[in-house]
Amino acid sequence: MTTTTAVRTGRAAARAVRLSKVYGSGETRVVALDEVDVEFRQGEFTAIMGPSGSGKSTLMHCMAGLDSVSSGSATIGETELVGLRDKQLTQLRRDKIGFIFQAFNLLPTLNALENITLPMDIAGRKVDEAWLDAVVETVGLSGRLTHRPSQLSGGQQQRVACARALASRPEIVFADEPTGNLDSRSGAEILSFLRNSVRELGQTVVMVTHDPVAASYAERVVFLADGRIVDELADPTADAVLDRMRRFDAKGRTK
Ligand SMILES: Nc1ncnc2c1ncn2[C@@H]1O[C@H](COP(=O)(O)OP(=O)(O)O)[C@@H](O)[C@H]1O
Ligand SMILES: [Mg+2]
Repeated sequence: MTTTTAVRTGRAAARAVRLSKVYGSGETRVVALDEVDVEFRQGEFTAIMGPSGSGKSTLMHCMAGLDSVSSGSATIGETELVGLRDKQLTQLRRDKIGFIFQAFNLLPTLNALENITLPMDIAGRKVDEAWLDAVVETVGLSGRLTHRPSQLSGGQQQRVACARALASRPEIVFADEPTGNLDSRSGAEILSFLRNSVRELGQTVVMVTHDPVAASYAERVVFLADGRIVDELADPTADAVLDRMRRFDAKGRTK
Protein backbone atom coordinates (compact mmCIF):
# COMPACT_ATOMS: atom_id res chain seq x y z
CA MET A 1 0.00 0.00 0.00
CA THR A 2 1.27 3.48 -0.80
CA THR A 3 1.33 6.34 1.63
CA THR A 4 -1.43 8.82 0.99
CA THR A 5 -0.50 11.90 2.90
CA ALA A 6 2.35 13.30 0.85
CA VAL A 7 2.04 17.05 0.51
CA ARG A 8 2.79 18.07 -3.04
CA THR A 9 3.54 21.40 -4.54
CA GLY A 10 0.65 23.63 -5.58
CA ARG A 11 -1.50 25.56 -3.16
CA ALA A 12 -4.00 23.55 -1.16
CA ALA A 13 -7.60 24.58 -1.78
CA ALA A 14 -8.57 22.49 1.23
CA ARG A 15 -6.75 20.38 3.75
CA ALA A 16 -7.55 18.04 6.62
CA VAL A 17 -4.97 17.29 9.28
CA ARG A 18 -5.64 14.45 11.72
CA LEU A 19 -9.30 15.13 11.20
CA SER A 20 -11.56 12.94 13.33
CA LYS A 21 -15.31 12.80 13.60
CA VAL A 22 -17.07 10.75 16.25
CA TYR A 23 -20.84 10.37 16.33
CA GLY A 24 -22.69 9.34 19.50
CA SER A 25 -21.15 7.93 22.66
CA GLY A 26 -20.99 4.71 24.62
CA GLU A 27 -22.52 1.81 22.77
CA THR A 28 -23.67 3.96 19.87
CA ARG A 29 -20.25 5.56 19.39
CA VAL A 30 -19.16 5.59 15.73
CA VAL A 31 -15.77 6.83 14.59
CA ALA A 32 -16.74 8.09 11.15
CA LEU A 33 -13.35 9.71 10.48
CA ASP A 34 -10.18 8.50 12.14
CA GLU A 35 -7.34 11.03 11.94
CA VAL A 36 -7.62 11.72 8.24
CA ASP A 37 -4.82 13.63 6.54
CA VAL A 38 -5.66 14.79 3.04
CA GLU A 39 -5.03 17.73 0.79
CA PHE A 40 -6.93 18.93 -2.25
CA ARG A 41 -4.78 21.07 -4.49
CA GLN A 42 -6.05 24.07 -6.36
CA GLY A 43 -7.20 23.33 -9.89
CA GLU A 44 -7.39 19.59 -9.33
CA PHE A 45 -10.29 17.17 -9.76
CA THR A 46 -10.27 14.51 -7.04
CA ALA A 47 -12.63 11.59 -6.59
CA ILE A 48 -13.26 10.01 -3.19
CA MET A 49 -14.22 6.37 -3.19
CA GLY A 50 -14.88 3.76 -0.55
CA PRO A 51 -17.49 1.33 0.72
CA SER A 52 -20.81 2.57 2.07
CA GLY A 53 -20.30 3.89 5.59
CA SER A 54 -16.57 4.50 5.12
CA GLY A 55 -16.92 8.20 5.93
CA LYS A 56 -17.01 9.82 2.48
CA SER A 57 -19.97 12.09 3.16
CA THR A 58 -18.73 12.88 6.64
CA LEU A 59 -15.37 13.96 5.23
CA MET A 60 -17.05 16.26 2.73
CA HIS A 61 -19.44 17.69 5.31
CA CYS A 62 -16.64 18.37 7.80
CA MET A 63 -14.42 19.96 5.16
CA ALA A 64 -17.29 22.06 3.80
CA GLY A 65 -18.24 23.36 7.24
CA LEU A 66 -21.60 21.58 7.14
CA ASP A 67 -20.75 19.44 10.15
CA SER A 68 -18.52 20.04 13.19
CA VAL A 69 -15.29 18.09 13.66
CA SER A 70 -14.39 16.18 16.84
CA SER A 71 -10.65 16.84 16.62
CA GLY A 72 -8.00 17.86 14.17
CA SER A 73 -8.06 20.59 11.59
CA ALA A 74 -9.94 21.41 8.40
CA THR A 75 -8.93 24.37 6.29
CA ILE A 76 -10.34 26.00 3.19
CA GLY A 77 -7.62 28.04 1.52
CA GLU A 78 -5.91 29.75 4.43
CA THR A 79 -8.93 29.64 6.71
CA GLU A 80 -9.19 27.18 9.60
CA LEU A 81 -12.78 26.03 10.02
CA VAL A 82 -12.38 24.68 13.52
CA GLY A 83 -13.30 27.35 16.01
CA LEU A 84 -15.15 29.60 13.58
CA ARG A 85 -18.37 31.10 14.87
CA ASP A 86 -21.63 30.30 13.05
CA LYS A 87 -21.73 33.61 11.28
CA GLN A 88 -18.17 33.30 9.99
CA LEU A 89 -18.83 29.73 8.92
CA THR A 90 -21.95 30.74 7.01
CA GLN A 91 -19.98 33.46 5.28
CA LEU A 92 -17.14 31.09 4.40
CA ARG A 93 -19.54 28.51 2.99
CA ARG A 94 -21.25 31.17 0.94
CA ASP A 95 -18.11 32.77 -0.46
CA LYS A 96 -15.62 29.94 -0.75
CA ILE A 97 -17.49 26.65 -1.05
CA GLY A 98 -19.83 25.15 -3.62
CA PHE A 99 -21.78 22.01 -2.79
CA ILE A 100 -23.56 19.66 -5.18
CA PHE A 101 -25.90 17.07 -3.70
CA GLN A 102 -27.20 13.83 -5.12
CA ALA A 103 -30.77 15.20 -4.93
CA PHE A 104 -30.39 18.42 -6.85
CA ASN A 105 -32.00 20.56 -4.11
CA LEU A 106 -33.41 23.24 -6.40
CA LEU A 107 -36.26 25.54 -5.45
CA PRO A 108 -39.30 24.55 -7.55
CA THR A 109 -40.80 28.04 -7.83
CA LEU A 110 -37.64 29.65 -9.22
CA ASN A 111 -36.42 29.28 -12.79
CA ALA A 112 -32.98 27.92 -13.61
CA LEU A 113 -31.23 31.29 -13.62
CA GLU A 114 -32.88 32.36 -10.36
CA ASN A 115 -31.81 29.09 -8.75
CA ILE A 116 -28.25 29.60 -9.95
CA THR A 117 -27.96 33.12 -8.56
CA LEU A 118 -30.05 32.57 -5.42
CA PRO A 119 -27.15 32.12 -2.96
CA MET A 120 -25.54 35.31 -4.24
CA ASP A 121 -28.85 37.17 -4.24
CA ILE A 122 -29.41 36.19 -0.61
CA ALA A 123 -25.90 37.35 0.23
CA GLY A 124 -26.49 40.63 -1.58
CA ARG A 125 -23.48 39.88 -3.73
CA LYS A 126 -23.14 41.20 -7.23
CA VAL A 127 -23.04 38.50 -9.85
CA ASP A 128 -19.96 38.52 -12.06
CA GLU A 129 -21.77 38.43 -15.40
CA ALA A 130 -18.79 37.30 -17.47
CA TRP A 131 -18.12 34.43 -15.07
CA LEU A 132 -21.79 33.49 -14.92
CA ASP A 133 -21.94 33.41 -18.74
CA ALA A 134 -18.89 31.15 -18.82
CA VAL A 135 -20.43 28.80 -16.25
CA VAL A 136 -23.81 28.68 -18.01
CA GLU A 137 -22.05 28.08 -21.31
CA THR A 138 -19.83 25.31 -19.93
CA VAL A 139 -22.77 23.61 -18.29
CA GLY A 140 -24.77 23.87 -21.53
CA LEU A 141 -27.83 25.61 -20.10
CA SER A 142 -27.98 28.69 -22.30
CA GLY A 143 -31.41 27.89 -23.78
CA ARG A 144 -32.96 26.72 -20.52
CA LEU A 145 -32.45 29.58 -18.10
CA THR A 146 -36.12 30.57 -17.83
CA HIS A 147 -37.32 26.99 -17.26
CA ARG A 148 -38.45 25.84 -13.83
CA PRO A 149 -36.96 22.63 -12.39
CA SER A 150 -40.18 20.70 -13.20
CA GLN A 151 -39.68 21.62 -16.86
CA LEU A 152 -36.15 20.21 -16.89
CA SER A 153 -34.84 16.65 -17.03
CA GLY A 154 -32.88 15.23 -14.10
CA GLY A 155 -29.63 15.81 -15.94
CA GLN A 156 -30.56 19.41 -16.68
CA GLN A 157 -31.58 19.99 -13.06
CA GLN A 158 -28.22 18.71 -11.89
CA ARG A 159 -26.54 21.03 -14.38
CA VAL A 160 -28.41 23.91 -12.75
CA ALA A 161 -27.17 22.70 -9.38
CA CYS A 162 -23.61 22.56 -10.75
CA ALA A 163 -23.89 26.09 -12.12
CA ARG A 164 -25.26 27.25 -8.76
CA ALA A 165 -22.27 25.69 -6.97
CA LEU A 166 -19.86 27.46 -9.31
CA ALA A 167 -21.63 30.81 -9.62
CA SER A 168 -19.75 32.47 -6.78
CA ARG A 169 -16.43 31.19 -8.14
CA PRO A 170 -15.72 29.22 -4.99
CA GLU A 171 -12.35 28.11 -3.72
CA ILE A 172 -13.57 24.53 -3.90
CA VAL A 173 -16.61 22.54 -5.01
CA PHE A 174 -17.66 19.43 -3.10
CA ALA A 175 -19.99 17.04 -4.90
CA ASP A 176 -21.49 14.07 -3.04
CA GLU A 177 -22.48 11.38 -5.55
CA PRO A 178 -23.64 14.03 -8.06
CA THR A 179 -24.53 11.42 -10.69
CA GLY A 180 -26.22 9.02 -8.27
CA ASN A 181 -29.74 9.93 -9.46
CA LEU A 182 -28.94 10.20 -13.15
CA ASP A 183 -28.99 7.83 -16.10
CA SER A 184 -25.55 7.08 -17.50
CA ARG A 185 -25.77 9.59 -20.36
CA SER A 186 -26.83 12.51 -18.14
CA GLY A 187 -24.24 11.37 -15.62
CA ALA A 188 -21.53 11.49 -18.26
CA GLU A 189 -22.57 15.05 -19.14
CA ILE A 190 -22.29 16.16 -15.53
CA LEU A 191 -18.91 14.48 -15.18
CA SER A 192 -17.64 16.13 -18.35
CA PHE A 193 -18.89 19.42 -17.04
CA LEU A 194 -17.11 18.99 -13.72
CA ARG A 195 -13.92 18.05 -15.54
CA ASN A 196 -14.24 21.08 -17.84
CA SER A 197 -14.82 23.36 -14.90
CA VAL A 198 -11.43 22.25 -13.63
CA ARG A 199 -9.60 22.28 -16.97
CA GLU A 200 -11.15 25.37 -18.52
CA LEU A 201 -12.31 27.46 -15.59
CA GLY A 202 -9.56 26.50 -13.15
CA GLN A 203 -11.96 25.30 -10.46
CA THR A 204 -11.13 22.75 -7.76
CA VAL A 205 -13.53 19.83 -7.47
CA VAL A 206 -13.80 17.01 -4.95
CA MET A 207 -16.38 14.38 -5.81
CA VAL A 208 -17.63 11.36 -3.90
CA THR A 209 -18.63 8.45 -6.11
CA HIS A 210 -18.84 4.68 -5.96
CA ASP A 211 -18.69 4.35 -9.73
CA PRO A 212 -15.23 3.56 -11.17
CA VAL A 213 -16.21 5.14 -14.49
CA ALA A 214 -17.19 8.37 -12.74
CA ALA A 215 -13.94 8.29 -10.78
CA SER A 216 -11.98 7.98 -14.03
CA TYR A 217 -13.02 11.54 -14.95
CA ALA A 218 -10.95 12.77 -12.01
CA GLU A 219 -7.21 13.29 -11.98
CA ARG A 220 -6.78 11.52 -8.69
CA VAL A 221 -8.73 9.04 -6.61
CA VAL A 222 -8.51 8.88 -2.82
CA PHE A 223 -9.77 5.66 -1.22
CA LEU A 224 -11.46 5.71 2.19
CA ALA A 225 -12.20 2.66 4.32
CA ASP A 226 -13.45 2.60 7.89
CA GLY A 227 -12.85 6.33 8.36
CA ARG A 228 -9.28 6.25 7.09
CA ILE A 229 -7.56 7.02 3.85
CA VAL A 230 -6.09 3.75 2.71
CA ASP A 231 -4.74 4.51 -0.74
CA GLU A 232 -4.73 6.87 -3.67
CA LEU A 233 -4.36 6.60 -7.40
CA ALA A 234 -3.19 9.20 -9.91
CA ASP A 235 -4.58 9.50 -13.45
CA PRO A 236 -7.14 6.78 -12.84
CA THR A 237 -8.74 4.62 -15.49
CA ALA A 238 -11.99 2.82 -14.67
CA ASP A 239 -10.15 -0.51 -14.84
CA ALA A 240 -7.40 0.61 -12.50
CA VAL A 241 -9.98 1.89 -10.00
CA LEU A 242 -11.97 -1.33 -10.16
CA ASP A 243 -8.82 -3.36 -9.73
CA ARG A 244 -7.84 -1.30 -6.69
CA MET A 245 -11.30 -1.64 -5.13
CA ARG A 246 -11.24 -5.41 -5.51
CA ARG A 247 -8.02 -5.59 -3.54
CA PHE A 248 -9.52 -4.02 -0.42
CA ASP A 249 -11.92 -5.42 2.09
CA ALA A 250 -14.33 -3.14 3.95
CA LYS A 251 -11.66 -2.15 6.48
CA GLY A 252 -9.29 -1.16 3.71
CA ARG A 253 -6.96 -4.07 4.29
CA THR A 254 -5.34 -5.54 1.24
CA LYS A 255 -6.87 -8.90 0.49
N1 LIG B 1 -25.46 11.97 11.91
C1 LIG B 1 -24.92 10.78 12.19
N2 LIG B 1 -25.11 10.21 13.39
C2 LIG B 1 -24.55 9.03 13.72
N3 LIG B 1 -23.77 8.32 12.89
C3 LIG B 1 -23.54 8.83 11.67
C4 LIG B 1 -24.10 10.08 11.25
N4 LIG B 1 -23.69 10.34 9.99
C5 LIG B 1 -22.92 9.30 9.63
N5 LIG B 1 -22.82 8.40 10.63
C6 LIG B 1 -22.03 7.14 10.61
O1 LIG B 1 -20.71 7.47 10.25
C7 LIG B 1 -20.17 6.50 9.35
C8 LIG B 1 -19.77 7.16 8.05
O2 LIG B 1 -20.94 7.63 7.38
P1 LIG B 1 -20.91 8.39 5.98
O3 LIG B 1 -19.88 9.46 6.04
O4 LIG B 1 -22.29 8.78 5.65
O5 LIG B 1 -20.39 7.23 4.99
P2 LIG B 1 -20.39 7.18 3.40
O6 LIG B 1 -20.77 8.50 2.87
O7 LIG B 1 -19.02 6.74 3.04
O8 LIG B 1 -21.40 6.12 3.04
C9 LIG B 1 -21.26 5.44 9.19
O9 LIG B 1 -21.00 4.41 10.11
C10 LIG B 1 -22.52 6.18 9.55
O10 LIG B 1 -23.49 5.31 10.05
MG1 LIG C 1 -22.36 9.14 1.65
